[in-house]
Amino acid sequence: MSKEFDLGALLAERGGERYELHGKYLNHQLPRMLHTIGFDKVYERAEGAHFWDADGNDYLDMLAGFGVMGLGRHHPVVRKALHDVLDAQLADLTRFDCQPLPGLLAERLLAHSPHLDRVFFGNSGTESVETALKFARFATGRPRVLYCEHAFHGLTTGSLSVNGEAGFRDGFAPLLPDTAVPLGDLDALARELRKGDVAALIVEPIQGKGVHEAPPGYLRAAQELLHRHKALLIADEVQTGLGRTGDFYAYQHEEGVEPDLVCVAKALSGGYVPVGATLGKDWIFKKVYSSMDRVLVHSASFGANAQAMAAGLAVLSVMENDQIVANSRAVGERLKSRLAGLTDTYELLADVRGRGLMIGIEFGRPSSLKLRSRWTMLQAARKGLFAQMVVVPLLQRHRILTQVSGDHLEVIKLIPPLIVDEADVDRFVDAFTDVMDDAHSGGGLMWDFGKTLIKQAVANR
Ligand SMILES: Cc1ncc(COP(=O)(O)O)c(C=O)c1O
Repeated sequence: MSKEFDLGALLAERGGERYELHGKYLNHQLPRMLHTIGFDKVYERAEGAHFWDADGNDYLDMLAGFGVMGLGRHHPVVRKALHDVLDAQLADLTRFDCQPLPGLLAERLLAHSPHLDRVFFGNSGTESVETALKFARFATGRPRVLYCEHAFHGLTTGSLSVNGEAGFRDGFAPLLPDTAVPLGDLDALARELRKGDVAALIVEPIQGKGVHEAPPGYLRAAQELLHRHKALLIADEVQTGLGRTGDFYAYQHEEGVEPDLVCVAKALSGGYVPVGATLGKDWIFKKVYSSMDRVLVHSASFGANAQAMAAGLAVLSVMENDQIVANSRAVGERLKSRLAGLTDTYELLADVRGRGLMIGIEFGRPSSLKLRSRWTMLQAARKGLFAQMVVVPLLQRHRILTQVSGDHLEVIKLIPPLIVDEADVDRFVDAFTDVMDDAHSGGGLMWDFGKTLIKQAVANR
């Protein structure tokens, strides 16, 4: 008789092999990178915006699992909804019936964008983008999608075709015949639209890479141009949506913006269950699903599964009851203004930007001779090393997890869970101040670590 599966026993017995197992069977570069920068921690427990290692040390999470943990880890209401949905033993995914949860979640989600009518549920951010790309092409009958330089919309082949970075695209050709335009450049957009073959423009209202915001008025003007040319506006809110930027959707910051399709994922299930949603106008869905024969023309085996739907309903309920969007706006403003106040003190600190709890901290060329020579040395080896030099002591010395916002960028991006409070934000700013003091003192461990990074960058060429 086979032994009964025991998850706890398995983890107790083999959990210690995590890094070796990953190196042997998964992407071997991940443990390699984590060992190199000393991020190879063993976290044992997590709650809200914090996790703990085996010695009981508390870490502050300013990354939220790339934004999926919008409500922090193990939110009790979402957990309960998941226990409840498992205990309910629903006849889920029969595929030839209509379950109540997808309709209920669609209804609740659409209440936040009243100009949209229908939802397609998939399983990830990239799938929500693929859906929008397909729907835009089909609805307009045109082949080409415009995207912004430096855009990130996911890494499957369709979303890679609208990715604005060569580093992600190189070697994966042929991709789709899509075209990049600079974010904010209405003339470039108009030029492409005049060719008459454009289905849509896909845009992140605030780009994840580098935390660059569309200039004021751009989305509204782009929408008008697109509609004049019978093309669609797709807002990718996979990262910026669900309260991240201090509005429910980032496009709502600007009056009169009503995208034809909106992509949502990440935080929708509270980080528990993979989920994606593409929201759109009725006529687009009616065109794609134009006859009974076409009922499965775009579908996903796991789409709208009960766990994802229950988690999504719980998340939206918590967001309303606990005023999560307002918290993101208020705490985000405190974080941004405290950080912006440091730009006069630290010559290496060039800019603080973003909205709500999506903040970019950019470093730049210092003015004093002593720091400038060190900065130039780092830049010559590889762009982005200084930001890495800041991220590492933030974790090692202050137990705060952050990330560099994209390859070759001197920008740190902060996207903490939206439930962080003033104490969390103050802890971050105090730690950041300490690291900046160290960097500006010009000596010490930090610049020694910089030399190690330079050696590695040169060796990796
Ligand atoms: C704006 C945006 N779109 C799409 C994606 C892709 O989402 P996923 O990783 O769930 O496929 C991401 C992921 O970071 C994103 O930030």
